[in-house]
Amino acid sequence: MHGYLSRDSVVRIGRHLGLPTSKVYGVATFYNQFRFQPQGRFHIQVCRGTACHVKGSAKVLETVERCLKIRAGETTRDGLFSLEVVACVGACGLSPVISVGGEIFAGVKPEAVKGILDSFRKKASDDDSSDE
Ligand code: FES
Repeated sequence: MHGYLSRDSVVRIGRHLGLPTSKVYGVATFYNQFRFQPQGRFHIQVCRGTACHVKGSAKVLETVERCLKIRAGETTRDGLFSLEVVACVGACGLSPVISVGGEIFAGVKPEAVKGILDSFRKKASDDDSSDE
């Protein structure tokens, strides 16, 4: 279990089913539950449900994408962060909401995004240096 569909697994599924790889990709990409890259050490979910949308989640998402230089569905090159857009995390009263590594951040303003991401970079660095 890798948590994502690698290129190799898509090719093998196609071979097993007797279908071209493009057909398998076509079906798999229709479902946004499938990922095609490994998840980052800290998985980010940006809520784009109605309540969060009304409170400015589009700008929050845009800021996360800009800070990490990735789009939703991608993972940073260093493997530290992956990004996903979700419909609602069930905390509408706290909107706009993002989750980073399972930790919920409420009432997130775009200008707070960099600080949140930096705190996780620091956490990763601290964890790595304590392992040495
Ligand atoms: S719409 Fe974002 S938590 Fe419900």
